[in-house]
Amino acid sequence: MNVTIFGTGYVGLVQGAILAEVGHHVVCVDVDDNKVEQLKLGIIPIYEPGLESLVKENHAAGRLEFTTDAVAGVKHGHVQFIAVGTPPDEDGSADLKYVLAVAATIGEHMERDRIIINKSTVPVGSADRVRTEVKKVLEKRGRNDIGFDVVSNPEFLKEGSAVVDCQRPDRIIIGTECDATIDVMRELYAPFNRNRDKIIVMDVKSAELTKYAANCMLATKISFMNEMANLAERLGADIEAVRQGIGADPRIGYHFIYPGVGYGGSCFPKDLQALIHTSDAINFDAKLLKAVESRNKEQKNTLFQKISQHFDAQLKGKTFAVWGLSFKPNTDDMRDAPSRVLMEALWTAGAKVQAYDPEAMEEAQRLYGSNELLTLCGTKETALKNSDALIIVTEWQNFRAPDFEFIKAQLTEPTIFDGRNLYEPRRMVAKGFTYYSVGRTKLAFPTLSSSSYHLSASTISD
Ligand code: UDX
Repeated sequence: MNVTIFGTGYVGLVQGAILAEVGHHVVCVDVDDNKVEQLKLGIIPIYEPGLESLVKENHAAGRLEFTTDAVAGVKHGHVQFIAVGTPPDEDGSADLKYVLAVAATIGEHMERDRIIINKSTVPVGSADRVRTEVKKVLEKRGRNDIGFDVVSNPEFLKEGSAVVDCQRPDRIIIGTECDATIDVMRELYAPFNRNRDKIIVMDVKSAELTKYAANCMLATKISFMNEMANLAERLGADIEAVRQGIGADPRIGYHFIYPGVGYGGSCFPKDLQALIHTSDAINFDAKLLKAVESRNKEQKNTLFQKISQHFDAQLKGKTFAVWGLSFKPNTDDMRDAPSRVLMEALWTAGAKVQAYDPEAMEEAQRLYGSNELLTLCGTKETALKNSDALIIVTEWQNFRAPDFEFIKAQLTEPTIFDGRNLYEPRRMVAKGFTYYSVGRTKLAFPTLSSSSYHLSASTISD
């Protein structure tokens, strides 16, 4: 099938490459000249496992093309994906200007019937707005004879496993009430729908809300666990034991109940805010969503609070090794990353940061390169040198079993603040560390003045 995709961000590029891989003829349109030229050369602007080879192979095979020529794009695809950004407005609502601009372009240049697919995460009611926009432009051209449908087909890919998520989706949501459209969509996605029927057809608004409901549910699970972790710290319980205890109940399950430093990334914070905004706009008080968001904002500050408390608020002139800058492992994305909240708080308090991340160094350079209080280090080991403590913000695989003796030798004081519960507290104390983690009692190495050599524990107070 001939497919056109507007927007070569995460969603558009991955979707385009995957559809080309199964044999569709895909043209990706982007307004950014430079990006298009780079993509033609196989240079991918984002770090996403498996994507580069997929793009190169399919581009070489002629099934995946890149262009800035929107007119050619509209001409090419029987289906036209809109996968452009929907950045939050100042008030938190999703800004539809790019989506509507693409809708106007399609309306301006279409000469035959088209199916327009909303792939961007857009508020409930956006498909109607796209429909209105296209209709308006067609009427202006006097071309009411050309037919079109607008489908909501939200994307559920996760950064870091976007290619696999797209290749093996657990569901394909299709929001339309038109039978002819459903047939085309089934044909488009047939290669991904072979083992069992993953296609769920519903009305447009339900499809739009499904996307938000999924992300808000996941964010709720995380904020709930972070709330439990804060409670566990204060009560002297161990959230990791609690996590295993509740996850064993199949109704709860083990997914997305890891406490930490709060969720970040390009989706959860933005989607939560957008749905809260949608609710406010219709005078519905989305109390739970607001609580989820507020818990997350506070959670992003908890590491800093522990550090500040440990050093009696005397952080000026101190140096901290920070491991992990991306909002989660296997991505270079630092959008809304907890590391940013932490580093900015440390800088405000006058502390220096020596940071390392396996993938996000370029992004950190772009964001904070001119900051004199930041040193970007080439390895996790160099980040430790003469630091007053180690802070772990992202759970990259190669942080899980480091050389603890080496860490101890590099730090001026053997203290670790772990925002991801990577290590076992008692083992850390046995190794000579003062170890802070999330939702577990702080364990300190017995000092020389301790009368007996047993592990001491003190609960973190407010
Ligand atoms: C998310 C959704 O998972 C995906 O389906 C949707 O299409 C886009 O948004 P993504 O933002 O890539 O994907 O990341 P995800 O893996 O979901 O993690 C989001 C955040 O939650 C990260 O900051 C992560 O560290 C945090 N998280 C996740 C936790 O703190 N605890 C958990 O148990 C799981």
